Amino acid sequence: MIVTIDGPAGAGKSTIARALARRLGFRFLDTGAMYRAVALAAIKRNLGWEDPQKLVELARQLRLDVREDSVRIDGVDVTGAIRTSEVTSATHYAANNPGVREHLVQLQRQAAGHDDIVTEGRDQGTVVFPHAQCKIYLTASPEERARRRAQELTDRGEPTSVDEVLRHQNKRDERDASRAVGPMVAASDAIEVSTEGLTPIQVLDQLEALVQTKIQQQQRA
Ligand code: DC
Repeated sequence: MIVTIDGPAGAGKSTIARALARRLGFRFLDTGAMYRAVALAAIKRNLGWEDPQKLVELARQLRLDVREDSVRIDGVDVTGAIRTSEVTSATHYAANNPGVREHLVQLQRQAAGHDDIVTEGRDQGTVVFPHAQCKIYLTASPEERARRRAQELTDRGEPTSVDEVLRHQNKRDERDASRAVGPMVAASDAIEVSTEGLTPIQVLDQLEALVQTKIQQQQRA
């Protein structure tokens, strides 16, 4: 079974999707990590952003190894390096590039293979796995998402105010939602779940129940 979890930054997708995969005994795929890895590789190579085709060529050359708990580019561990603010703000160059998206979508389908998987991103239920059996769209208000992100960055040693996160987040949401290819949007058959005011365990319980219902429906069909 394929479970897709899409939604805006800070809705709790990564934490929830990873934990849900563990509970279900499914594999987990963090597709945002792939866009981040392409952006990081471009920064490291001083590629410059003015030529979109160069970024596509770079993306195609990279050996991306995205696992449950680690991300490697050409064998080098970049698990922490792809999460810095610098990479976060540059990742839209990769995410808004249709050629890069086309390549990463292919990699994502390959990575899923025929396994049971929980996959997380912006376009998993719409573009990458339109036939997924269980689609979830995770949301929360912009303010709550910004509060969580600011806390996460501060915990990671990058003290950041909620207002600052909110400003950047609004810009990213706008870009993610308005791009021509793979925009952030709920699939028409996705179940929308708000994480507002809920603990991760409460959200997890809710999602696990949704997936179990889908599994039972499949077994009966
Ligand atoms: O979920 P995240 O913050 O790690 O994602 C990083 C960026 O990549 C974010 O700007 C949205 C983009 N992204 C995307 O366009 N498509 C995906 N499937 C996953 C992430």
